[in-house]
Amino acid sequence: MQLEIFEDHQGLSDAAASDIIELAKIKPSATLCLASGETPRLTCQLLVQKVKNENLDISRLTFIGLDEWVNIPPDNEGSCHYFFRNELFSPLGIPEKQIHLFDAMSDKLQDECRKMDAVIRNKGGIDLMIVGIGMNGHIGFNEPGVSFDNYSHVIDLDDTSLSVGQKYVKTKVSLQKGITLGLRHLLESKKVLLLANGKKKAEVIKKTLEDNLTNSFPASIMQKHAHGIVMIDEEAASLLNQHK
Ligand code: F6R
Repeated sequence: MQLEIFEDHQGLSDAAASDIIELAKIKPSATLCLASGETPRLTCQLLVQKVKNENLDISRLTFIGLDEWVNIPPDNEGSCHYFFRNELFSPLGIPEKQIHLFDAMSDKLQDECRKMDAVIRNKGGIDLMIVGIGMNGHIGFNEPGVSFDNYSHVIDLDDTSLSVGQKYVKTKVSLQKGITLGLRHLLESKKVLLLANGKKKAEVIKKTLEDNLTNSFPASIMQKHAHGIVMIDEEAASLLNQHK
């Protein structure tokens, strides 16, 4: 695992977007998995600009959504569907056949999980995964205590995710469960970028990098990934020992 510290959110987002561009040039049929949320929003916006500026052909890329809130409809602005459509798929005109998102409204969520696992397997694995980190150390909806051996699964969200999650949903909806790729997908993916910015992420970044590897703090799994890069800004790095 490597650590890269950038001056600000713009810097790390630009680097992450450039990584995607690079991959798309080297491997036009690559499979990319992205998180939604505040952290990767700028990465998506910069990616859209770069693809347009370079007139890059991305018609063979596959896009996988990392997770979704169970029972939140895709047209709810708090859903991961809504985020991806608005920030990436619509601006770039990416057709459905290149997109794989969990249908979290399905009454067969286990089937959704197996379907997603099969897509990833058939693609030969994920080439690049870009994830954020929650205030409880979750990645995707891999909540504290989750097994590192899981592929896609449905999970009860813990209290931190439930309360922080309210920031995404303006209308009153009941959040309880999430559907998510597993940490086994992360470990098997060829490269992973974990992005974090701002002072509020300083504590969780310190735990990710300096505490022991443990499933009670899922993001610590990054320590195990040979091609994992933790990309953070100065504020998120502010509590690291090397920075004091
Ligand atoms: C969202 C996701 C979550 C977020 C995490 C950080 O698809 O997978 O794990 O990455 O909760 O969210 P932000 O970036 O909003 O701070």
